Amino acid sequence: MKNIVILISGGGSNMAAIVNASRQQDWAGRHGARVAAVLSNKADAGGLAWARSQGIATDSLDHRAFASREAFDTALAERIDAHAPALVVLAGFMRILTPAFVARYAGRLVNIHPSLLPAFPGLHTHQRAIDAGCEVAGATVHEVTAELDCGPILAQGVVPVLPGDTAPVLAARVLAQEHAIYPRAVLKLLHRLG
Ligand code: GAR
Repeated sequence: MKNIVILISGGGSNMAAIVNASRQQDWAGRHGARVAAVLSNKADAGGLAWARSQGIATDSLDHRAFASREAFDTALAERIDAHAPALVVLAGFMRILTPAFVARYAGRLVNIHPSLLPAFPGLHTHQRAIDAGCEVAGATVHEVTAELDCGPILAQGVVPVLPGDTAPVLAARVLAQEHAIYPRAVLKLLHRLG
């Protein structure tokens, strides 16, 4: 069985979309894959409670308890590796990862970013798209490499930017696209990993 470990920091709606797709589409039976665990850097991340309610293993590790980014990433990797993951999925995991962490999971670490990369890496993507006068916005699933919000693109979803959009309104429109593209991209990568 190919284990998927998902990392979250918040509500975890992308994580839930992947879990739901994995069940509705019988990933275990058809693709030999399952979401084995959901981990967070925040013990109170809303998505952890939902994952637990679904019978999925959860774990949390507070980054503030560590003296350095490296120490946190090393401890996080130990927790991840306990689930022998074929794939590590970042779903709203709001921590910058060290090069060593990225290298450890090279080729099997993916992220979703709420913009049409390479436009708008970093934060406040929706407001920046509105301020720039973009006619379209969206989200990108990409392999994680050492450079922030770079890496080969696996999937993109596009939405219009409409007159009068505020950042939260646009974010909600983009998020609906994220829920559609992320499960598809995860499956695509699982197939590629063989
Ligand atoms: C999503 O919009 C995701 O693209 C974004 O955080 C949100 C998490 O929502 N990720 C980033 O900004 C990463 N830099 P969710 O917890 O409901 O999935």
